[in-house]
Amino acid sequence: MIWRCDLVPQTEAYKAEILQAIERVLPTGRYILANECAAFEKEFAAYLGCNHCVGVANATDGLTLALRAFGIGEGDEVITSPYTAIPTGSAIVDAGATPVFVDIEADTFLISIERILAAVTPKTKAVMPVHIFGNVVDIPKLRAALPAHIRIIEDSAQSHGSTLRGVQSGTMADAGVFSFYPTKNLGAIGDGGAVVTNDPEADKRLRLLRMYGMLDKDTIITDGINSRLDEIQAAILRAKLPHLDAMNAARRRIAARYAAELPPAFTLQHIPESVVTNWHVFVARYHGDRAAFTAHMDALKVQTNIYYVTPLHLQRAHARLGYKPGDLPIVEQLCQEAIALPFYPEMTDATHDEVMRAIHAFRA
Ligand SMILES: Cc1ncc(COP(=O)(O)O)c(C=O)c1O
Repeated sequence: MIWRCDLVPQTEAYKAEILQAIERVLPTGRYILANECAAFEKEFAAYLGCNHCVGVANATDGLTLALRAFGIGEGDEVITSPYTAIPTGSAIVDAGATPVFVDIEADTFLISIERILAAVTPKTKAVMPVHIFGNVVDIPKLRAALPAHIRIIEDSAQSHGSTLRGVQSGTMADAGVFSFYPTKNLGAIGDGGAVVTNDPEADKRLRLLRMYGMLDKDTIITDGINSRLDEIQAAILRAKLPHLDAMNAARRRIAARYAAELPPAFTLQHIPESVVTNWHVFVARYHGDRAAFTAHMDALKVQTNIYYVTPLHLQRAHARLGYKPGDLPIVEQLCQEAIALPFYPEMTDATHDEVMRAIHAFRA
């Protein structure tokens, strides 16, 4: 079987460093919010070129806490993309706010800035653009066009190391949120997340909110939750962070090969010249019979995937918002056509050869 994403070769490649990291933590007896988390926060902020990083348990919590850190909740609208992983919407609801979905650009798969601007109401308190599959929304352009009181929180769960005009994704807005779920470009051996910001007040709020709202061991001053990046995961992330750029470069090489060799039935995600993408996953439009194509690939034991089967505005969980099929036609069409091909940084040329043979063997 060729997996769409195989994590084992990556863990094998960095196994010695991962084991060393774990062994460093075990004898300390301090497994939550100690040296490793603090060091990772500093190192990740330095990598990104921003001032503050707050480790949290996962990006879903990170998105919710980022909204809450800026006082966004009940009665507030947050504009976001319908073409994203489920948690982008869930995090907005969890903060007590109302998601407002606007359509995407057909070529980049990114939320449309023009449509964001058209959806702004007096209740809009934040925009949560998603850097989908590592492509990057033009945050400075969005910032310049939006009223100043509206916060921007970048959902960077998929965009570790992606840049726009040389600036790291996640660092251009009020806050950026990263996921370290194992399949992410920087993945832990479990769950993890981080919120990054240049705003010292937001940094302080986030540190309170991730730890019960606790000022000191006897005093809580706000309604926080428990959402911490544990020491073992932080230590593992410290071991893997120095390899992030090389892993992203490997992804770019594999993506370039797909771009050169895929048949014309595929249209690639357009990456603007200003963006260097980390190619989190390789998703293209397929203009033939997608169900027949995926069945053919399954038969040849090549796993494919569909990102995303259902756009967020049509998910049952968001039914009370009142969207109906046809409301956001560009994303709805993309969800009919998108297909993710096998893709991970350690994919060998031989495996890629097999994938390409399987693709070229398909006769509609
Ligand atoms: C775009 C996006 N946002 C948010 C998340 C949530 O990340 P986590 O699983 O760390 O909560 C994910 C993960 O799938 C994601 O892809």
